[in-house]
Amino acid sequence: MDTYTLAKALHVTAIIIWLGGVLLNGVLLSYLAKDTGPGRTQLAGWIRRWDFRVTLPSMVLAWLFGGIVMVMGGWFPDAWLMIKLVLVLVVSAIHGMQSGRIRRLAEPGQAPPLLSVLKHSTELVIAAVLVIVVLVIVKPL
Ligand code: HEM
Repeated sequence: MDTYTLAKALHVTAIIIWLGGVLLNGVLLSYLAKDTGPGRTQLAGWIRRWDFRVTLPSMVLAWLFGGIVMVMGGWFPDAWLMIKLVLVLVVSAIHGMQSGRIRRLAEPGQAPPLLSVLKHSTELVIAAVLVIVVLVIVKPL
């Protein structure tokens, strides 16, 4: 296996773990929006640890290996890659907002109402990933 293929395999592995965590965050945040009981801070604290130890490092690795593949393959500045990067920034921003929300919920006290973008974070992430994967596989532009 050559270095390029290995970097691409590590890129896809990191993405699977990262996006798994982002979808988990989305599902649990919808659940926690309705849960005001004492279990809320405990569950939020549990997801917060997973997010910090697994999901966030996977995002960093997905960007790192994506960057390595981009440079090694000389893909920059192809149009498919530029559109993909904008969508990946959207997914990264949603993840950042989720992490902030989870941190607030893990602390005792009243959390502010759930932002509308976070109410729909799973749908938004799935739609973005669908377009990203079509762009990267088909490279229509
Ligand atoms: C949600 C985030 C991302 C997803 C779902 C994703 C998905 C993928 C997939 C499935 C492949 C394999 C394509 C193939 O083998 O034909 C790939 C390759 C690649 N990705 Fe990503 N990626 C993401 C983030 C990034 C980032 C942040 C960068 C750049 C910094 C990047 C740059 C690349 C490049 C240059 C390739 C190589 C394309 C090729 O060899 O055909 N990706 N990506």
